[in-house]
Amino acid sequence: MSDPRAHARELARQSVARGDVTGWFEQLYLESERDGFAISWVDFAPNPYLVEWLQGQAAPPRGRAIVVGCGYGDDAELLAGLGLDVVAFEISPTAVARCRRRFPESAVEYVVADVLAPPVAWSGAFDLAFEAYTVQVLPGDARAACARSIAAFVAPAGTLLAVARSRRPEDPEGLMPWPLTRDELDCFLAPGMRLANLREIIEPGDPPVPRFVAEFRRS
Ligand SMILES: C[S@@+](CC[C@H](N)C(=O)[O-])C[C@H]1O[C@@H](n2cnc3c(N)ncnc32)[C@H](O)[C@@H]1O
Repeated sequence: MSDPRAHARELARQSVARGDVTGWFEQLYLESERDGFAISWVDFAPNPYLVEWLQGQAAPPRGRAIVVGCGYGDDAELLAGLGLDVVAFEISPTAVARCRRRFPESAVEYVVADVLAPPVAWSGAFDLAFEAYTVQVLPGDARAACARSIAAFVAPAGTLLAVARSRRPEDPEGLMPWPLTRDELDCFLAPGMRLANLREIIEPGDPPVPRFVAEFRRS
């Protein structure tokens, strides 16, 4: 695979054109396992903004955590290592199977689930929700639906940490992954949720990559 991101974009384009906004993820993970090519977002390391956020907490978070679109499980394992009771889910059964193979002794509950139709039992059930880069790989109405669904996981007094590529409203939408505008970030503001902290980061690169790192709290 000469350009993994171009391949992912093409799978996304075909899938979305068929009206299936999530079908391409399983296809990508399956092909990657079969053909051995890299997936652009997989780096087999915890998200650096999650690591930073954890380091900035006066006390380590406690209770139940959920990791959205967990990929190959590195963020979930980091949280479980801190003593949190972690559920991590993916729409791709192949990715979930890989998590279980990578971490056979893990305390994390890895689940195949769709954030757009999650188990009812997850509503308000988590002290910490972590979302990195899932909303931005969904098109159209699925983006706001995804953000609202994630916000609904958060228990009273709980926290949601969301990381996403960002763009100004006047910038073109671009190609998948489609960065979030500031207005789209507000889709996490379900009733009872407030924005506790927002960092707007420009990651150096060619071109530089702007990101939101947003912390929401439920009152
Ligand atoms: C850009 S990747 C980010 C993966 C991981 N969070 C990370 O930061 O490395 C987005 C992930 O969300 C998963 N995903 C996409 N749509 C989903 C959905 N509707 N429900 C659950 N997972 C989904 C994809 O399979 C993919 O692994």
